[in-house]
Formats: sequence, structure tokens, C-alpha cells
Amino acid sequence: VTGNSHKSDRIDFCDLESRRDPYPLYARLRTNAPVHRSSLGFWLVLDYRNCAAILKDSKRWSADSRNALSAECFEEPSPAFGGNALVCPHLFWAPPRLGDVRPFMFLDDPDHRRIRSLGAQAFTRSAVRSYEARIEELAAELLDRALGKHEADLIAEFAYRLPMTVICELLGVPLRDQAAFRRLSRRLGHTLTPDYLLTAREREASREALIVVVKYLMKLAAERKQQLGDDLLSALLIAEESGQQLSPEEVIATVMILLIAGHETTVNAIANGTLALLAHPAQARALARDRSLARGAVDEVLRFDAPVQVAARTAFEDVEVGGHTIAAGEHVLAMMAAANRDPDVFEDPDRFDVRRENASRHLAFGSGVHTCIGAQLARTEAEIALHAIARHLDTLELAAPVEYRRDAVLRGPEALLVRPGVRSRRVRKPTRTVAVRHAERELSGSKEPSR
Ligand code: HEM
Repeated sequence: VTGNSHKSDRIDFCDLESRRDPYPLYARLRTNAPVHRSSLGFWLVLDYRNCAAILKDSKRWSADSRNALSAECFEEPSPAFGGNALVCPHLFWAPPRLGDVRPFMFLDDPDHRRIRSLGAQAFTRSAVRSYEARIEELAAELLDRALGKHEADLIAEFAYRLPMTVICELLGVPLRDQAAFRRLSRRLGHTLTPDYLLTAREREASREALIVVVKYLMKLAAERKQQLGDDLLSALLIAEESGQQLSPEEVIATVMILLIAGHETTVNAIANGTLALLAHPAQARALARDRSLARGAVDEVLRFDAPVQVAARTAFEDVEVGGHTIAAGEHVLAMMAAANRDPDVFEDPDRFDVRRENASRHLAFGSGVHTCIGAQLARTEAEIALHAIARHLDTLELAAPVEYRRDAVLRGPEALLVRPGVRSRRVRKPTRTVAVRHAERELSGSKEPSR
């Protein structure tokens, strides 16, 4: 933080302590310096009003970092992780790209609108409703399998698999290749992490993973062209072939961003939600009993612990924000996770409350033209997943302390190891199911009517 702010009030994305619980720091900064320039050069905006205004105003704020003052990057020793880190002054992170082609998330209109509108049809409310039964079925199957073990990592075995399987099915990635995708997914997730937070090895691994995925998608696209299906990849290929609305690189870049954004984020929504419910057992029990609470519960999870903490923009022109002038070409991070706890909008913002009336005003899906295209799908997945988990939480306990991923954009735990809890062990012993009681009566020849 420039100016006279206390050193401990720097937002240090490398600091594992603040990753564990960044909210006290966000609160101090939102109060003392809601708009400020970070020591790394870019601006941070933490209050709700200014965050929402930036995200909504695509005329003055670009999502394409090529409009930044300087895209020059250099290697610098990284005391946090050892080795060298890549530092891009004025630039928070350089998004994944295919040559000159960027995914539409990092483009402005008209290119952004042209490409987004082609993908959007797969994510409308009615389209998502048609996958609902499949998501329910998958969630039940995965959770049963995970909880059947003595100890399970709810992330690896449930939270990752559910959205990954759904997005692969939607895009038309064959079942046989989904396991390989899962193995690549963590390294792919790093493509949304600023380069300076990655070790040279992680950066290399993430680039290699990206190349593997791009090559795979190009092969899949060539195969699919021979035999189109009713999946999203086929729809994009038809758009490419018929109207020249999409170039072949744009098709691949679109599928790639849907794959990455479509699962890394939802994983964290499910994991952060599970942790919030574990910490608030009465609310978990209420959700388990009443499915109609699920929608509000998901909004509250997204508000309380946003899976995507920030969105980056570059000023097209000089803009006044919270009494500061941000010059054309300067880079800004709208910190939605901090805005979601702004007391000017959310009463008692640090309280988790699945019945909070205005939880849906959160900015966790962004706002304006770049609002999350998969929000409806993500909500549906998270509602089904959290309701299913809530029904088991009474019988589960954490088997290991939670470590958060070292990431500044995506927030979520590395793993969620759970095992049957003390309560369930105590309860399980004396409890005999109806079937057991029936079998015992059969064996003893009792004719007593079953209750
Ligand atoms: C809980 C889960 C999710 C969260 C919290 C989330 C969050 C976000 C946020 C904050 C943005 C705006 C980024 C910006 O303004 O720069 C965004 C955009 C986007 N999201 Fe999501 N997302 C989630 C799930 C999904 C899913 C399931 C998909 C796809 C299947 C998806 C695909 C995208 C895409 C393609 C964009 C870019 C939209 C555009 O630029 O027009 N997201 N998401």
C-alpha cells in the first residue's frame, strides 16, 4: 500500500497466513484504503460500490490486458517459494492464450460479444434445467462412493469430479478421456494464477498442461467435424464452418476457457460451502431438512467465501475512482471477495447466514457484460452438491487441518479429508436398522409385528 498505511496492511498474495483467512485484512483495507495502488504497481479496489461500478462499465474498463501500459515481464528471485518468479509490472496476470487469440473472458466487445453469444445458448436457464437430473444422479453416485470409504478427500473424490464430469459431458469430451483431464486439471488451474505466484517449475507445468489440452482439443475438433453431435463443441464448430463467425483458434480458446473456468471455480464453491456448513452445524441441519434453502445457501457461500476473489481490468481512459485518478493503461483488481463483505451492503457481513435476504447481491459471478456465463450451471451444481453434503455432515468430521491453495485468484482448500465422526460412531453401535430387526425376529422365530 502506498502512502502512510501500516506495513502489515499490504495485501500480500504470497502470504499463506492471509490465504487461510484473508477477510480481516480485506476489512481493514476496505475501511482505511478501499482504493489504493499496491506495491506491485496495479490498483486494488475493495469496496462494493466501486467494484460493482468498474465491473459494470465496459466502456471505460477493458478486460484485455494488452491495453495495459506495459506488458513487459521480467524474472525476479522469489523469496516466498525459492527460484525465480515472473513479475509483470502494472499487470496482475497474463491470461492463457493461443498465439494471438485469447479466450473471450479476456476480450472486449465486439469480439467478446460475438464469441460469448455463441457459447451462451448452452448455459441458459432452460438448458441447465435439462441437465439437472444428470447432475443429481452424478452427485449421489460420487458422494456414496466417497463416503463408503473409511477416510475420503471430498475434493478429489467429489468436488472435483462433479463439475469436471458435467463440463466434459456438456462440451462433448468422451468418457475415456475424462480421467486424463482430471489429472491435468490442477496444473491447468494454475493458468488462472498470476505468474509471479508460481515457481518456475509450476509455471512450466501449467504451460505444458495447456499445450497438451490444446493439442487434444484440436484433435477432438477434427474428429467431431467428421461426425457432429449435440454437444457444445459441435455447436461451435457449426458456427465456425457456416457463418465464419469463429476462427478455428477461437473455437479451441472458447472450449479451453469453459473447461478451466467451468470446474476450478465450482470445486471451490462446493469446498468452501462444505467448510462453512461444517462450522455452522445448525444451518447445515436446516439445509439438510429443507431443500428450498439450497438456493439461498449457495448465494451465501459465494458471498461469504468467494471462489473467485478478484477480476482484473485496465483503464481505457483516465477514471476517477474513490477520490483517486486511475490513468489510462493502469491495471486494476476489483476485489469481489472484499466487496462481498462490505457492511454498507451486507448487514453484519462476517456472519454466515443461509437465510440472508440480500445474499444474491454478491459479486462472486462478476457483473456487467462479463458476468459468469456458467452461473446458472454452477448454482445448480453447488445447490445439489451442498444439499447432498449437508445430509451427511452430522456424521462426518474433518480428519486433517485444512490447507488453502496458494492462489490469489481462486480461493479454496487443497484437500478436505473427512471420516465418520464421533457422533456417528456412537450412534451407529446401538442402532439396528429395520432390516436387521426383521432378520433377528426371523431367526428367533418371533411373530411380533414389526413397528
Ligand atoms: C461457483 C462457480 C463459479 C464462479 C464463482 C465463477 C466466477 C466468475 C466470475 C467472477 C467471472 C467474471 C470474470 C470477470 O469479470 O473478469 C466469470 C466469468 C466466466 N465464467 Fe464463471 N464462475 C463459476 C462457474 C463457471 C462455470 C460452471 C463456467 C462454465 C461452464 C464458467 C465460465 C465462465 C466464463 C466463460 C466466463 C467469462 C465470461 C465473459 O467474459 O463474458 N464459470 N466467472
